[in-house]
Amino acid sequence: MSENRIEIDPKEYVEYFRENTALLVSMDSNGNKNVMALDWKKMEDHHGDLVIRAQVAYSRYTYKLLTEGMKQFTINIPSDTNRNAVSIAGTYSGRDTNKFDEAGLETLPGVTIKVPTLKNCLLNYECRVIDTSKSDLSSHHYFYGKILKAFASKEIVK
Ligand SMILES: Cc1cc2nc3c(=O)[nH]c(=O)nc-3n(C[C@H](O)[C@H](O)[C@H](O)COP(=O)(O)O)c2cc1C
Repeated sequence: MSENRIEIDPKEYVEYFRENTALLVSMDSNGNKNVMALDWKKMEDHHGDLVIRAQVAYSRYTYKLLTEGMKQFTINIPSDTNRNAVSIAGTYSGRDTNKFDEAGLETLPGVTIKVPTLKNCLLNYECRVIDTSKSDLSSHHYFYGKILKAFASKEIVK
């Protein structure tokens, strides 16, 4: 665990989750990771489990990884030091670009899952996909990730 963050109850500091674009990290079954920008996200109760619902378009490489790779993802809320990664993560595709190298993003091993979190973020959440469904938009799909661990940067912890 990074010294810069502490474990929190996932319902804490949720305003930072709501107000910022997230970086969603996913992984193929060989352990190759990818990152994409995600605005359409919601924290909610799903049949008794606290989940992050990520709305991902069918066209994204991330969709392929979430359905055919690890059924896990991390949600990372960038800080001032790595917020510039959002435009790279949200423009290029992991099909042909290593966005971690491109954006200078560093990772921390997942504590409960194989997918890593991103260093120097305001918030990190480790999630396991427990359900999926068609979204209200025909171009997108919902992934419901049960929150297994959550961390906040000491920058925002009071
Ligand atoms: C600020 C921002 C927010 C975005 N939010 C979403 C989103 O909520 N859902 C989605 O499917 N794509 C979203 N995108 C687009 C994807 O991040 C983008 O298509 C990305 O290149 C997909 O990467 P991938 O092919 O490696 O999965 C967003 C892009 C930006 C710049």
